[in-house]
Amino acid sequence: MRSGAVLGVNAVPVDVEVDATVGMPGFYIVGLAAGPVREAEVRVLAAIRNLGVKLPSKRVTVNLAPGDLRKEGTGFDLPMAMGVLASAEEIPAQALEGVHLVGELALSGEVKPVRGVLPLAIEARRAGARALLVPEANVLEASVVEGVQVLPARHLGEVVAWARGGQPLLRSLPPPPPPPASPLDLADVSGQEGAKRALEIAAAGAHNLLFFGPPGSGKTMLARRLPGVLPPLAFEEALEATVVHSVAGLTRHRGLLTERPFRAPHHSISDAGLVGGSTVPRPGEISLAHHGVLFLDELPEFRRHVLEAMRQPLEDGEVCIARAGRSVTYPSQVMLVAAMNPCPCGHHGNRTRACHCTAHELVQYRRRISGPLLDRVDLHVDVPAVPPALLSGGAPGVPSAEVRARVARARERQAARAGPRTAPVNARLRGEALRRICGPDAAGRRLLDDAVARLGLSARAHDKVLRVARTIADLEGDGAVKAAHVAEAIQYRALDRPLL
Ligand SMILES: Nc1ncnc2c1ncn2[C@@H]1O[C@H](COP(=O)(O)OP(=O)(O)OP(=O)(O)O)[C@@H](O)[C@H]1O
Ligand SMILES: [Mg+2]
Ligand SMILES: [Zn+2]
Repeated sequence: MRSGAVLGVNAVPVDVEVDATVGMPGFYIVGLAAGPVREAEVRVLAAIRNLGVKLPSKRVTVNLAPGDLRKEGTGFDLPMAMGVLASAEEIPAQALEGVHLVGELALSGEVKPVRGVLPLAIEARRAGARALLVPEANVLEASVVEGVQVLPARHLGEVVAWARGGQPLLRSLPPPPPPPASPLDLADVSGQEGAKRALEIAAAGAHNLLFFGPPGSGKTMLARRLPGVLPPLAFEEALEATVVHSVAGLTRHRGLLTERPFRAPHHSISDAGLVGGSTVPRPGEISLAHHGVLFLDELPEFRRHVLEAMRQPLEDGEVCIARAGRSVTYPSQVMLVAAMNPCPCGHHGNRTRACHCTAHELVQYRRRISGPLLDRVDLHVDVPAVPPALLSGGAPGVPSAEVRARVARARERQAARAGPRTAPVNARLRGEALRRICGPDAAGRRLLDDAVARLGLSARAHDKVLRVARTIADLEGDGAVKAAHVAEAIQYRALDRPLL
C-alpha cells in the first residue's frame, strides 16, 4: 500500500508492507514509527474486528519503508488496515494498485481527517498515482491538485466494499459552507487619514509597520484591513499558503485559500507557537501567515525571547527547524504589523486624556520593544484618538478597492525593476540594489543627511527611510526619489527619536 509522510511542506512516499506468517500471533510495526503510529495496532485491529472480519491468528508485521524516515501521526492507519485485509485475502490486493491512501481510523472503523493531505496529493500527482483515497473531510484540499482522482473515505467498511468491487465511494452531502466573512473595508474606518496613508505605503512596498496610539483608536481595525488592500493571492501563492495550513491541520472541509491569511496570535504565545517547532515539527503562526499578514497586537506584552526568535524568519522569509538530525523548512514571507499603546496607561501624547505614567515607566515600556525587532519595522505610525464627532458623522472613507488598485500599480513598478539580484518589493532591497534604486536626488540627499544628524538616525534607520521614500515615489509614479518623498518617509521614524 502506498502512503506518504509529511516532511516540512513536502510529502515523501512511504510504502506500507504487511507480512502475515504462521507463528506466535502478534502485531509488529517496524520502520521508525513514532508516537501515534505505534498505537495504530489498537485502532487498526478494532476497526477490522468491527467490520465482522475475523483475521487468521498469525504473526503480522507491518513495515513502513523507507526505514530511516521517522513516521508520525495517524495517517498510516487506513493503509495498514487495507494491507492487513489484503494479506488475509479479504480484499483483492490489485484493487489498490496505483492508489495512494491516507487516513486515521476510529475504533468503530470511521475514517478521521489527518494533517498534510494537500502535500500528499501533490506527491501523488508527481508519482503518477491513479487515485488518492483520503478522509472525507480532507477531500476539498486534495482536490486542489488537478490530475489525480480523489476518493472520499468515510468508513473502513465502505472502503472494503469498494475494494471488493462494485460499491462506488460517494461523498456525503458537503457540510454547509462557512458564512462568507463580511469583507473588511477601509471605508469603515473614520478619520485616521495619516494611518491609512501609512497602511497604503506599507502595502505598496511590503514594509513592516508598527501602529502606536491610545486604546480604541482603531489600530486593530486598520491592521485587519491590510489583507484587503494587498494584491489578491496568485494561484502559486495560494497553493503555498494552503500547504502550510494543510500541514497544520487547518484545512478540514476547505480547499484553496482565497484570501491572504491574517494571523493575530495572543501575546502569551510561545516561541514554538510563533515560529514553529516543538517536538513534532509544526508550522508556527509566522508560517501560517505566509503571503499574508502577521499581526502582533500589544507588542510590548510579548515575551522578549519570543520576539527575538522571529528575527531570522522575518529576514529570510523561511523558518528552519532542526530536529533529530533532520531539518524541515517552512516558508514565512509575511508582512509584520504590530500595535502598541504609547505608554503603560495608553494615553501618552493624547490631547484629551492625561497620561499618568512616570518618565521611568515610559522608558521601561519602550525599552521592551526597542532594538532588534524595531529594526525590522520600516514605518512607525501614530494612530491618535478619534474625535467622537468624527466617529458618529464624518464622510465615508476611501474604499479598499481603490487603495488596492494604487498598491497594485506601485508593485508593478517595483516588479519591473526586479532582477536576479534585485528584490521585487522595496522592503527587501539590500546593499547595492538599495543604493542604486532608492538613491534620492540632490535635494533629497541633503534633507536625509540633515535628518540623520539632527535626529540621530542610525545607519539602519537611514536605509529604511530610503526604502520607504522609494515606495512613496512608486505610488506617485515618480522615477526619482525626491525631497518630498524623503521628508514623508522621515516622519515614519517616530520611535527612533528621543522620548518626550
Ligand atoms: N477610526 C475609527 N473609525 C470607526 N470606528 C472606530 C475607529 N476607531 C475605533 N473604532 C471603534 O472602536 C472599536 C475599537 O477599535 P480598535 O479595536 O481598532 O482599537 P485599538 O486601537 O486596537 O485599541 P486597543 O489599543 O485597545 O487595542 C472598533 O471596533 C470600532 O468599532
Ligand atoms: Mg487593538
Ligand atoms: Zn501613560
